[in-house]
Amino acid sequence: MNNDFNIIRLKETESTNTYAKALLKQGELSAPFALVFADNQTKGRGRLGRTWESREGDTLCMSLVAPFPFKPAVTLLSALAVHQTLTEICKEIKEDLKIKWPNDIVIKNKKLCGILTESTDKAAVIGIGINLNSTSFSDEITSKATSLKLLTDKEFDAFDISQKIAENLVNLLKKSNGEFTDSAHKEYTSLCINLGREVICGDKKGIATGIDKCGSLIIKTEDTTEKISSGEVFISGIY
Ligand code: BTN
Repeated sequence: MNNDFNIIRLKETESTNTYAKALLKQGELSAPFALVFADNQTKGRGRLGRTWESREGDTLCMSLVAPFPFKPAVTLLSALAVHQTLTEICKEIKEDLKIKWPNDIVIKNKKLCGILTESTDKAAVIGIGINLNSTSFSDEITSKATSLKLLTDKEFDAFDISQKIAENLVNLLKKSNGEFTDSAHKEYTSLCINLGREVICGDKKGIATGIDKCGSLIIKTEDTTEKISSGEVFISGIY
């Protein structure tokens, strides 16, 4: 038990998000914040119903439970806290670490980390997956994924990093009360690679021009301005 959050470390589970949600349902968490970490995940879940690929020792799999149900900013704040942690532990790549809306951490247009935020009536479950020591990926994602090992030629300890992320994220969530504050908005905007680029979301295509105060992506299409609050946004030429 850390001062601010419970820590639950598992050898293996299907999905740390699924595990955390089950604990919440059973009323089994004694602190407002909790870190659920697994050395291995057998059925990792990604955004929009996708699966999340992971291998023991190669991939960091964690979920942070936070007492903020249904706050849309939580997912963007999570990307900021992961970004902050990765810049602290990997100073050599910090200039190149960016965020792809809403919450992928990317470097040189490749994905390093994905975040799946799920809300229950009591809390947010923020699931974070980071490619740490991977040196290869499945055919499906190999062209768009990278890892800290491939970028730095170093090995990383997933449990250690998960605790640093949890500390930074708990601090940020407490400080902002789960809201997209002006300073979070400014920082997020400065890191978001979508801005100024052509993006495609369903049948909408246009230039991403900003992030609004609720965290939605603003897109200027040929004849209108649209706000996208969730879903898949492709950046032309990237992913
Ligand atoms: C995405 O980019 O689609 C989000 C991926 C989120 C993966 C993490 S790994 C830990 C947590 N448990 C899961 O089943 N998913 C998230």
